[in-house]
Amino acid sequence: MIEVVALRKDYRIAVHHRGFWGALRNLVETRYNVVRAVDGISFTIEPGEFVGFVGPNGAGKSTTIKILTGVLEPTDGSVTVNGLVPRRDRIEHTRDIGVVFGQRTQLWWDLPVTESYDLLRHIYSVPEAEYRAQRERLCELLEVGPLLDTPVRKLSLGQRMRCELAAALLHAPTMLFLDEPTIGLDVVAKETVRTFLAAENRERGTTVLLATHDLSDVERLCPRMILIDRGALVYDGPLEAIRRRFGAERELRVDFEGAAPAELPDSVEEQERGPERLVLRFRPGEISSAKLIAWLSDRQTIADLEIHEPPIERIVAEIYRRGLPPPE
Ligand SMILES: Nc1ncnc2c1ncn2[C@@H]1O[C@H](COP(=O)(O)OP(=O)(O)O)[C@@H](O)[C@H]1O
Ligand SMILES: [Mg+2]
Repeated sequence: MIEVVALRKDYRIAVHHRGFWGALRNLVETRYNVVRAVDGISFTIEPGEFVGFVGPNGAGKSTTIKILTGVLEPTDGSVTVNGLVPRRDRIEHTRDIGVVFGQRTQLWWDLPVTESYDLLRHIYSVPEAEYRAQRERLCELLEVGPLLDTPVRKLSLGQRMRCELAAALLHAPTMLFLDEPTIGLDVVAKETVRTFLAAENRERGTTVLLATHDLSDVERLCPRMILIDRGALVYDGPLEAIRRRFGAERELRVDFEGAAPAELPDSVEEQERGPERLVLRFRPGEISSAKLIAWLSDRQTIADLEIHEPPIERIVAEIYRRGLPPPE
């Protein structure tokens, strides 16, 4: 179980004085700017959950993952993972977690993949038989077999990510922390990674915390999403619930055979206006689509129209901008 309580992380950045006199001053006084990367986040994750950890760039996702995996010390608040304090109990903690940082490799750049794996086996002291079984299983699922003799630097990004995932799981941890594992992957490679992660979670009960800014990862994989923005928790719950809560909204795009009507019913919000085109938002609870269309066609002949639910990306972007609306 993962327990995060009022977690805070400040980065201190040294401010340097410039020029000759500045360099002298740097010797006697160093000033710091403080960046608050994580600002009081709390959540709990139960064994076997698959949680999406979502937020725009700079939200604090990587920082949180680094604290959870013991790479960084929190400034304030507490973190425990299966009763261990990640940084203090690093050695024990590392045995039970797998980690993948999408933008960094944990494999040795110039070595063939298979040698990296052997090194990892020794680092984690995995018994030989266990290691062989696990390696065979992972190589098959991730189709890593044909890559084993290739040096890591020669792998494509998609191939490397498959090798990284296998590497992270060689010691059969019960928890997996992933930081943007699908970043930069093409559609096919993404799908391979997602299918694999879904199966690990479903069949082995591996707990997964997946940091991503790609909502389609979350839609595909995560029953639960934790949304953060500027270091603070904005939402914790199912992605679907957000859609239900906002999904009440509809978008209507209309092309007219002439000038678009100048006025609109009160409950309708104008999104875009062209000379002969309108994009409108409305709530079916306030005005039905039939009524709205009738109202418009009374004023101008309609050439074409479409009705949409807002895409999930836009819903979430809106939450970043304005925060969550109160429950209805
Ligand atoms: N090593 C660092 N030193 C100073 N500031 C940092 C460092 N790492 C991250 N930050 C800052 O902390 C904030 C959160 O960054 P990060 O955790 O990487 O967010 P995310 O992974 O969601 O993009 C950002 O404002 C970022 O610029
Ligand atoms: Mg990041």
